[in-house]
Amino acid sequence: MSLFSDDQIRFDLLRKYSINQWGRYPKDVIPLTAADPDFRAAEEIRRAIANMAVDGVFSYGGDGGNPAFRDACARHVTNRKGFSCSPDEVFATSGVAQAMMLTCKALLKPGDEVILFDPVDFLFGKSIDIAGGRQVLSKVSWETLEFDLEGLKELVTPKTKMICICNPHNPYGRVLRRDELKAMVDLAVDHDLWIMSDEIWSDIVYDGREHIATASIEGASNRTLSLYGFSKTFALAGLQLGFIVAQNPELMAKVKGAAPGYFYPVNNVSQEAGRASLDEAWHWAQGFVRHLQGVRDYVYERLSDMPGVDVRKPEGTYVIFPKIDGMTSIQATKYIMDEAQVAVVPGHGEPFSYFGLGGEGHIRIVYSTSMGIMEEAMDRVEAALSKL
Ligand SMILES: Cc1ncc(COP(=O)(O)O)c(C=O)c1O
Repeated sequence: MSLFSDDQIRFDLLRKYSINQWGRYPKDVIPLTAADPDFRAAEEIRRAIANMAVDGVFSYGGDGGNPAFRDACARHVTNRKGFSCSPDEVFATSGVAQAMMLTCKALLKPGDEVILFDPVDFLFGKSIDIAGGRQVLSKVSWETLEFDLEGLKELVTPKTKMICICNPHNPYGRVLRRDELKAMVDLAVDHDLWIMSDEIWSDIVYDGREHIATASIEGASNRTLSLYGFSKTFALAGLQLGFIVAQNPELMAKVKGAAPGYFYPVNNVSQEAGRASLDEAWHWAQGFVRHLQGVRDYVYERLSDMPGVDVRKPEGTYVIFPKIDGMTSIQATKYIMDEAQVAVVPGHGEPFSYFGLGGEGHIRIVYSTSMGIMEEAMDRVEAALSKL
């Protein structure tokens, strides 16, 4: 029995606590929508929360994060992300989504242009919009999964202020190569741009690949805000925890200015859970990635064999983004829900686009669950698509 075997899925608890996923659909639906694991968090994390509850002191925390949390984050980045980080370069946030919004708020003025990739998670575009910035899209090829590095230069204007990197890339599951990151950093250096590097998925990489942190690339550290989280690696989405690393004091001052502690405090219980994750539960994360690689292989093979499905093998993340022949994303999502009772996310669609126009025709499937659940889901999807 492993921590990630089928019998570790607690449907009773998921229906009670997984409000946005298992609690949202009728009982016969398999939800593969939110990138939020179905496994219970590591015992070390649960114990840390329980100990704090027993201690019973819930005072105000420190501005920008508590020392124990920021120490753990700095060690984690230095030891596992390939660049050196000190606690005063860490700023705690209530999740990476908030960190993205803060980054845009801190660095953009209304009318500033920001380069981002298409498709990509909607949180990038939303954060830019909220800050009054203008999205400038660079298409990532579905055929080759390559970024248009040459074309990036043509997108730069005097108003361009920032480039956004999502690595590993949600939804294609690409893990960016060093030459790709270098080209993006070089562009930022040449045109004096800030870089928002969302590395929330950086622990979930497969086949022995190395995730390369943007800030470790020459020229990047002074202009990069690196964003890390706990939702994906440690199954802590509902604790709303993340952090920003800013090695440039000027950048850190901008973040602090945009998020004064009295308005942006981060929950102390979450920070203690985050500390325990990084200090004590790394073995859990490693076991989780080993499990996920097996599920990734299985789901990829199954989808590859289905009629009308065009799929690429993710190098990282636990999302897969097949294109369904002859249907819009919305049609495919609805068809699979109606015929297979499997809930997935549409790649694109009005009025809300999850991944931008580049996601049209695709659906996103999340596979951070047990092999048994994915077997059942794949059987149902195959049966539904075979009827077409
Ligand atoms: C690329 C990316 N950034 C940020 C988030 C949100 O992170 P958090 O749960 O820490 O707010 C997600 C969640 O799916 C994501 O995929």
